[in-house]
Amino acid sequence: MSRAVRTCALLLALLLPAAARADEGMWLPLLLKQLNEADMRQKGLKLTAEDIYSVNRGSLKDAVVQFGGGCTGEIISGEGLLLTNHHCGYSQIQQHSSVENDYLTKGYWAMTRDQELPNPGLTATFIVRMEDVTGAVLQGIPGGIAEAERERTVQQRITQVAQKAVEGTHYKAFVRPMFGGNEYYLFVTEVFEDVRLVGAPPSSIGKFGGDTDNWAWPRHTGDFSMFRIYAGPDNKPAPYSKANKPYQPKHYLPISMAGVQPGDFTLVFGFPGRTTEYLTSWGVDEVYAASDPAKVKVRDAKLRVLDADMKASDKVRIQYAAKYASLANYWKKWIGEMRGLRRLDATARKQQQEQQFRAWVAQGDATRKAAYGQILDQLEQQYRLVRPYVVARDYTTEAALGVELVAYANSLQNLLDLIQNKAPQAELATAVGKARTGTTNFFRNYSAPTDQKVAAALLPLYADGTPAELLPDYVKTLRAKNTSPAAWASFAADLYGRSKLTSEADAQKVLDELLKGNAQPLLADPAYQLASAVVSTYRQKVLPTYTTAQDQITLLQRTYMAGLRQWQPERKFYPDANSTLRVAYGQVAGYQPADGTEYEYYTTLDGIMEKADPTNPEFEVPARLAELYQNKDFGPYAVNGTVPVAFTATNHTTGGNSGSPVINGRGELIGINFDRNWEGTMSDIMYDPDRVRNITLDVHYMLFVVDKFAGAGHLVKEMKLVNMPLNGRANSPLEPNTKKQKVKVKREKAAAL
Ligand code: ARG
Ligand code: GLU
Repeated sequence: MSRAVRTCALLLALLLPAAARADEGMWLPLLLKQLNEADMRQKGLKLTAEDIYSVNRGSLKDAVVQFGGGCTGEIISGEGLLLTNHHCGYSQIQQHSSVENDYLTKGYWAMTRDQELPNPGLTATFIVRMEDVTGAVLQGIPGGIAEAERERTVQQRITQVAQKAVEGTHYKAFVRPMFGGNEYYLFVTEVFEDVRLVGAPPSSIGKFGGDTDNWAWPRHTGDFSMFRIYAGPDNKPAPYSKANKPYQPKHYLPISMAGVQPGDFTLVFGFPGRTTEYLTSWGVDEVYAASDPAKVKVRDAKLRVLDADMKASDKVRIQYAAKYASLANYWKKWIGEMRGLRRLDATARKQQQEQQFRAWVAQGDATRKAAYGQILDQLEQQYRLVRPYVVARDYTTEAALGVELVAYANSLQNLLDLIQNKAPQAELATAVGKARTGTTNFFRNYSAPTDQKVAAALLPLYADGTPAELLPDYVKTLRAKNTSPAAWASFAADLYGRSKLTSEADAQKVLDELLKGNAQPLLADPAYQLASAVVSTYRQKVLPTYTTAQDQITLLQRTYMAGLRQWQPERKFYPDANSTLRVAYGQVAGYQPADGTEYEYYTTLDGIMEKADPTNPEFEVPARLAELYQNKDFGPYAVNGTVPVAFTATNHTTGGNSGSPVINGRGELIGINFDRNWEGTMSDIMYDPDRVRNITLDVHYMLFVVDKFAGAGHLVKEMKLVNMPLNGRANSPLEPNTKKQKVKVKREKAAAL
């Protein structure tokens, strides 16, 4: 940004009311009218809150689904066509792939409906309605009772409320706490379970830039895949059947071809997973100084091992592709998060806020003092107490159970328990049956030699990182004996050599014996012995204190949250993300990642060709894409002579928002959310309007890949494209499509001021 522009932006910022500048927040759709509608309309929304969320008629929410457990998807045709990210459909694409039929590498496109591939276990969940049920859940629960007791009552009521809400329907329901349990909301859902894979680009498009570009801007990843929801003859959810019909949605999103301009209104509608925006300084410090560093260190080591083995073998590459991606993802995120928290001086900011809060309490009457006078000191005390247990927990889950053999051995513990408790044979047989399926699935994607190297690298980290008094004696002894990497490696070699749990055939034999009630082979297995030492010590020494302290923190944090809301009655609060449906809104914008650097708000196909590197598998460009580029064969998907690929905006998003529709002021799809910028990853804890950006795949690139690259134009025909540029002009009066020129004009004008 030139100095003049910056001065101008600053002036503007000063003129606007504070609320209009910050795009922070993940809002409950139910409360948009009350809290956000005016602000949204001022920022460019042409719709009403009712157009976004309505129970009585089709609204935008009816085109948004939770995709599987952790992503979002949107419906883009009257026949249930569903759009989400490539990385969200990744395990399904992988599931259908083999070395011979490698859809990860080559992509997949169903050219007819009967080529659409079923995915057992995959669901698409619509939100039918939501409701504030705080009264019904909390009624009559006294303030001072123990957290565990409160939780029991709350759980009972939640079950009742949810059951009653869906009586006599095929709907499902759940209730989630908001504001740390100061409020509760009911969600009634419709869950579809026949969701078929329609298409996915090759990874060289869908994962272009790989882990190098992950969490990064400028970005050129074609991160999308397509599915289709199928329903029974009555258009209601039905288990997979060949006879099922494409689902007819109450609403689907038209797709805007008008392109985006800086400052354009954007709305992200999806299922953000988890944020902790109202932590205290001690909570922030725990993440920043203890948890993130520990987890990063362990994953560093694990990723290095996996990377080497995946490069050496195609089989291992396919087996570990999804596991690697998911490990690398949060590894990189946590590194960005630590940097962002440091840059914002987040702990100090929280301390400042806490001082102001204390001052407010001190000025108050006796009631206020009684309610909040102790709260911060008590929180500090609990955080101090819990710190070593948090560290032990992180090392146990990331390092010890990060060894797949240890995690697998531990998964058989419940069979032992059944035998030791003399459970009825039928129960044991069912459990063994489940374990057999689990075992088959586990070994499909397991390489024992790779895991052995992981064990050699991770076990010493576990032994060194866990506070000594929380370590199993067994591991303490190992730690004393194995003082070099070579010693740990030979320990691992011996362990994997002797364990019967490193191959499927042997593991099934162990299960045969368990079915007969013979626990001996498992008990004698060295991998089981290690797992059992780790987990039982964790259960005995770590978990009790960890749980009590966390319960205390939950309770105290709830009170603190109530205090914050009372302290700042004018401020609009949004509840932390908890995998429920939310609306984030903001505007298209670039940013300055660092002093002296400025990032544009969009990228194009030109940038893909600039990044192309045939010697680096992360940046390989498919020949067909290069050819289309050379011939400028862009179909109707070009803007100013190239294809827009991705853009950034100020929406407040987090994990789970992947695949979320990015919608313009008229309710049309302009892109698919797929990532956040690295400089903004601390927004799960603290949002920064200057640097937090969500990264969106532009619909132009998605359509171009489907139609021109994959030759699946029949899918584009199914969609509703609007604002098509006619004779070089968009047919909407609102959105000229001469993007680059328009931006230039704006800049020059600004500079002249
Ligand atoms: N960072 C994105 C998200 O949190 C994308 C992850 C998948 N991509 C990858 N290269 N691992 O989920
Ligand atoms: N890629 C993330 C997801 O899978 C979204 C990025 C973010 O955390 O903001 O949900």
